[in-house]
Amino acid sequence: MAAAVIDGKAFAQGLRGRVADAAARFQAETGRAPGLAVVLVGEDPASSVYVRSKGKACQEAGMTSIEHRLAETTTQAELIALVEALNADPNVDGILVQLPLPKQIDDKAVIAAIDPAKDVDGFHVVNAGRLAVGEDALVPCTPLGCLMLLKDQMGDLSGKDAVVIGRSNIVGKPMAQLLLGESCTVTIAHSRTKDLPAVVRRADIVVAAVGRPEMVKADWIKPGAVVIDVGINRIEAGESKTRLVGDVAYDEAAAIASAITPVPGGVGPMTIAVLLRNTVVAARARLGLGAEAGL
Ligand code: GUN
Repeated sequence: MAAAVIDGKAFAQGLRGRVADAAARFQAETGRAPGLAVVLVGEDPASSVYVRSKGKACQEAGMTSIEHRLAETTTQAELIALVEALNADPNVDGILVQLPLPKQIDDKAVIAAIDPAKDVDGFHVVNAGRLAVGEDALVPCTPLGCLMLLKDQMGDLSGKDAVVIGRSNIVGKPMAQLLLGESCTVTIAHSRTKDLPAVVRRADIVVAAVGRPEMVKADWIKPGAVVIDVGINRIEAGESKTRLVGDVAYDEAAAIASAITPVPGGVGPMTIAVLLRNTVVAARARLGLGAEAGL
């Protein structure tokens, strides 16, 4: 039987609606909208597109978007000075510094300068540590979005075998922590893993986050597994056209899996929706307001 298609676009739309309701309640309680500051250094076209769509999504959810566009030649000290000003600004609840940064700037130093209470990317070591020990944390948007889709599809994940392919700080490692928090048996596979297909074949849940077009083949998938594809890869499609594909060979994997996320329209739309969600969560926590249900 063909796999169910996990509609991330629809789920993300629903989440954005709930975030908009929560933002309106925050405004009623505090007299101001939740505010997200997004910082872009340089002119990278893909980053520029992301930053613009984050700003638009914020406004659509009734939140304040504060955009800072800095020159490619910005120094690390200048960027950190901006981050410190945003830390001190009471109207800013979330700070996102778009990655990658130009080569003269050390990502780690910039992330370390962000107030963990405003770290809506969940990249600060304090948030990574809180996630690892099971305390309340701001969690990276993409893996949290993947977990939401998995729970929506499968309900209780406890006892499931989960294989995460990729060990990045942004997706692979926090994804593994989230699945462990749901009582899955978790394996993190990566470029040095021996016999990757055999490892993936054990999984009830596969999360592919490696950035290699269509790497995961049908015969790597256990029949009935649920497949979450984080990859967004642009490949040549003939006649000087290009096409977006994931890290999973979708058509063949969909014949074996019980459910699978498409690319585009799966995980992609979740990232911004969770960013907005994290901003409202951070805003309420900073002001000592209770957590919102349904986020
Ligand atoms: N660049 C690509 N993805 C992300 C993300 O989730 N957050 C930030 N800050 N930069 C990114």
